[in-house]
Formats: sequence, structure tokens, C-alpha cells
Amino acid sequence: MKIAVVGPGALGCLIAASLKGRTKEEIWLLDEFPERAKKIARDGIKVDGASGTGVTRIDVTANARDIGQCDLVILCVKSYSTEEACKAIKGIVSEKTGILTLQNGIGNIQILNDHFCPDRIMAGVTNHGSTLIGAGHVKHAGKGETTIGRADGRVLGAIRDVAGVLTRAGFETRVSKDIDSVIWSKALINVGINALTAVTRLRNGALIEHEECRQVLRGAVQEAVKVVKRKRVKLSYDDPIQKVESVCRATASNVSSMLQDVLNKQRTEIDFINGAIIRHARALNIATPVNEVLTNLVKTIESSYEKEARG
Ligand code: PAF
Repeated sequence: MKIAVVGPGALGCLIAASLKGRTKEEIWLLDEFPERAKKIARDGIKVDGASGTGVTRIDVTANARDIGQCDLVILCVKSYSTEEACKAIKGIVSEKTGILTLQNGIGNIQILNDHFCPDRIMAGVTNHGSTLIGAGHVKHAGKGETTIGRADGRVLGAIRDVAGVLTRAGFETRVSKDIDSVIWSKALINVGINALTAVTRLRNGALIEHEECRQVLRGAVQEAVKVVKRKRVKLSYDDPIQKVESVCRATASNVSSMLQDVLNKQRTEIDFINGAIIRHARALNIATPVNEVLTNLVKTIESSYEKEARG
């Protein structure tokens, strides 16, 4: 199988290095920045942590033409770059290419559907924890399950093959018939945790140690639950508040991905997390004051990095 991983962030690097190191497939990494692509091609991808420590040499390019048509394209770019990534991968996607999004948040499948035939689109969620230390250098904080599925719920040979390849690469993967449930179930966790860590600059565990903060977390999740209920999406857990709080405890020392973005003065995925809840809620006439405040605060932080006061 010829596989292109798109986006050399923490997850993209980890998956590309794992696929290259542990399977016999032809693996490429597609980067949008030529200089960074050259650096990663020269130095390889360095992974420290749960899957061991090592450097994996890999084919990296910023020019999709170098890759040619693939059997599988795995999208790992930030959600706000999905639209751009769709344009960039046009040349490596044929009518037989599978496209798998493992991105965060709600809305990526819809963007992919606008660009490619929905029949070839797969989506998934991975619970592997990873942090980018520098270009091509990732810390693999912990292993977790990966779940993929087709939007139409069909379990065909092709998706089983993809799950098989990922599992061989060390990403234990199962196939779900209800990928919407998997994506919304993960998104609700991010709705409760990510923006609140970005605003307070607390680690995940601290969010529930402060009663006022815990109330905000609960408010954001409760609004999202109303949306999920009206959309008739079935969550993979019974008690969403309890679930989000248990993730806070289980990942207590994590600096969430959104807090990492804010600390690195980067754009965040707020539009695809709390922002997506607001959009879906608006269409259903559901009020989302907590998610609106969180979204507005994170957007203010994003647009004012240069103006931050220093002590
Ligand atoms: O985005 C993240 O950081 C993670 O999805 C989670 C589960 C919030 C843990 O930090």
C-alpha cells in the first residue's frame, strides 16, 4: 500500500514514523513548508516515549507531485487547515484512494465531502497522546485505542485493511459502524477541557480542583449534550459530565493540545470544538452561552498574542 500522511504535527509524525518503522508499506509525509520538509527528510523523525526511542528516516516532501497517486491518505493537519489540505492532496488522490481523517473536532468529514467522493472517506479518533517537541521530534506520551469508520457505517474490506495496517504500526485499531458517535463522544471531552485549559492555563487535572472552573466545564458539556441529544447522536458513555471529569483525572498532568497551541502562540482548533457546538446549536435553536464565552475568550487570546501584558 502506498500511504501519504499529511501534516507533520505530533500525530502526523508519530503515525508516519510508526508506519514506516513497523510495516512494509510505502510511506510518505506531506508537509506544507518546503524548508521543514527538507529538515525532516534529512534528520528523520525522532520519537521518544511510549513506543520507544529512535529515529526513523522517511520520504518527506512539500510537493505532492513527488508522491504520485496513493492507496491511502491520512489527514493529520489541524482542522482549520483541512480546506487547504484538500486542495494540496488533489494530485495524490485517484478514484480508488481512501482518505482517512484522524483530526480533532467536528466538521472535517463535511469539508472532505465537499472535495471528494463520500464513498472514499473514512474518519477516526485516536487516543494516543503525543506532543511535538520540535520539527520532526515527537514525544509519545501514552498509547490508547484508535477507532475508525465510514460515515455511512458500512464495514467493507477496505476499511478493515486500513485498520490492519494501523494495528501493525502499533496503533491498535477497531472499526466502528457509528463513527459519528465516536467523533462526537471525543469532541465532548474536548469541549469540556480544551478551551478551559487555554483560558486558565491550567493542566487538565486542575480544571476540576477549582469549583468555579468545574462549573464552567459542566456548563459547556451540558450545552453540548443538548445538541447531541437533538441530533440523535448516541454517545459512547452514559454520563458525559462524569466521563469528562474522569478524563481530567486520567490525563491530570497533560497540557491539552489547545493550551499547547496558546503557549506556542499558535492558532487553535476552537472553531471545530466549542465553535462547532455553537454552530450546530444555532441551527437547532439551542442556547450556548458558556460555549460562546469560551470561544470568544480563546479567539481573543489567539488574536492578541503580541499584546499580552507581562509582569
Ligand atoms: O486535545 C487534547 O489535549 C486531548 O484530546 C485531551 C483528551 C483533552 C487530553 O489532553
